[in-house]
Amino acid sequence: MVKIPEIKDPIIKACNEALYYPSDDSYLLIDYFYSHTTPESFDGIKLEFINNILDMGTGTGIIALSFLYLKQEYQNLNPHIYASDVLESAIKCARINEKANNFQEEITFILSDLFSNFPSSLKNSFDVIVFNPPYLPSSDLLNETKKNDKDLCWDGGNTGIEILGDFITQLKDFLHQESSKNARSYFISSSRTDSNKIDKIVEKNELKREILCKKRFFFEDLFLNRLEMFSI
Ligand SMILES: C[S@@+](CC[C@H](N)C(=O)[O-])C[C@H]1O[C@@H](n2cnc3c(N)ncnc32)[C@H](O)[C@@H]1O
Repeated sequence: MVKIPEIKDPIIKACNEALYYPSDDSYLLIDYFYSHTTPESFDGIKLEFINNILDMGTGTGIIALSFLYLKQEYQNLNPHIYASDVLESAIKCARINEKANNFQEEITFILSDLFSNFPSSLKNSFDVIVFNPPYLPSSDLLNETKKNDKDLCWDGGNTGIEILGDFITQLKDFLHQESSKNARSYFISSSRTDSNKIDKIVEKNELKREILCKKRFFFEDLFLNRLEMFSI
């Protein structure tokens, strides 16, 4: 019988009132990644094919850190890990959390509104891009007129998918285009997200979407989605 290793959940020491403390949606992603990695493959991709991984909207850095723990466990998994966020305070906290987990500057952090501040050298380079985006419609927020940093964790714009829509539209430029390597992106959506609208954006960008799992959390269902390019 194959023994499934116990991989550590990252320790989160630094967070602040403007940042998203890891929650059910963060762990839906991490649990899926931990349970779909073997000594040979990550969710069906050969480990050797994975060179660059991006955690978009990293917040406290939890998802990027979970990939460092996966790297530590599987010797054939050797990607460079990038993490980005639009909030400077997120990058600061994520750096502290990296040290708190005893990793020394292994993550490359990028302060950026989606991909706007990414160097062009990173185009066509990521094998895995993960995003746990803000997905609530602005009207669901208490302070619709007076937004603050904290709202960036939740506020998906008027329809709830504006940030996600822009992300999906920009994604293809940054995914590794070589079809044999099956680059993909994972993101979270909620039963409160308009799934028809997501599908329209996905189709327009010639991607395909699959829902990998669904979990009920209090007042909503959370979905883990995978996006892949149609084979070239
Ligand atoms: C729901 S939180 C997820 C945080 C963390 N990845 C997790 O799973 O716990 C969403 C994150 O996206 C970031 N974010 C919001 N809009 C963004 C944008 N336009 N570009 C990059 N990051 C953004 C927020 O600052 C926040 O850290």
